[in-house]
Amino acid sequence: MKAVKVPEVLVRIDAHRLQFIANPASNSRRYARLWYSPTVKSSWLVAWTAAGICFGQAVKTNPLAGDARAAEAGRGVFRVYCAPCHGIKAEGARGPDLTLGVFNAGSGDADLFAVIAHGVPGTEMPGFAARFADEHMWRLVTYIRSVKKESPAATGDASAGEKLFWGKGACGQCHMVNAKGGRLGPDLSRAGRQRSLAYLRASVVTPGAEITPGFATITVVRKDGTKVIGVQRGLDNFSAQLMDMKENIHSFWRSDVKSIDREFKSVMPEYGKTLSATELNDVLAYVTKLKGEEKKR
Ligand code: HEC
Ligand code: HEC
Repeated sequence: MKAVKVPEVLVRIDAHRLQFIANPASNSRRYARLWYSPTVKSSWLVAWTAAGICFGQAVKTNPLAGDARAAEAGRGVFRVYCAPCHGIKAEGARGPDLTLGVFNAGSGDADLFAVIAHGVPGTEMPGFAARFADEHMWRLVTYIRSVKKESPAATGDASAGEKLFWGKGACGQCHMVNAKGGRLGPDLSRAGRQRSLAYLRASVVTPGAEITPGFATITVVRKDGTKVIGVQRGLDNFSAQLMDMKENIHSFWRSDVKSIDREFKSVMPEYGKTLSATELNDVLAYVTKLKGEEKKR
């Protein structure tokens, strides 16, 4: 992810009211100074102090639920911190589509708050508790609730797509769904929950366009000139591990081989060329239905 410059003030709601959402991530001292800024009318200071109390740790219900201005402020924060992964409209890209109204994390506002605060260990989703005050996270929850929409259903036939996945398309040779299938590509058991339809379509039509993090292609040339090509499993300054097309894991020391190259291209075929439009829609209808299980916390 590209480093984003951290703005000090994220949103200006209007000129007469308390007009800034000071960004606690930029500089906490500044945040405190704005908080007590003499330009803030004392009545507002009181309002904020009161709000501060109800934003305490124990809050399990969203104090800003349904508040349109909070949603708007949340949108501003979202654009900076979350859009790089979840898309500018929260429709998903590297991170899941958040407009579907169903969440792996659970269905309550407190569940969403917990995910934003602590992240999802072992995935790309970082925790924000160290950077954001609680009210910022509640604003984000309010924003996420405000973008819920009926998901654009894939138009294809999911059961025809399932046959294609395991048959002619050979997707199952490289992808696992519910513990069945190959291990070269990412497990797709929860792809329909994690990825937007647009992202999935792009992944299948032009896999090289955006490589799933951790699944780049590694080419090793041995000293005798023979090559081993596979999907990255590990890479550092001294060594590389990769899985070849037959799912054998290879491990190399840089000092033992002629070269090790990582390319951000995919070993997955470009299905835009080999599947018809109907077949493509069918297979996408199947993949978008893969929602895995809701995690128990
Ligand atoms: C570096 C990429 C990245 C960034 C930045 C990021 N997310 Fe995520 N987020 C993810 C991924 C990946 C997941 C899915 C984790 C998993 O597999 O359960 C996720 C999951 C979530 C979920 C849970 C979805 C569900 O179905 O349970 C929420 C809510 C969420 N993110 C909100 C946010 C918010 C709000 C921000 C910004 C403050 C943010 N994310 C920033 C990548 C990111
Ligand atoms: C030769 C092995 C191979 C085959 C066959 C294959 N894939 Fe892939 N697939 C991969 C690899 C490796 C990646 C990760 C690299 C990338 O982003 O392309 C991937 C990525 C994906 C992704 C993106 C996953 C994510 O969460 O980012 C989707 C979706 C996907 N494949 C679907 C399919 C479908 C549907 C088919 C069959 C029509 C298929 N794949 C066939 C190897 C394969």
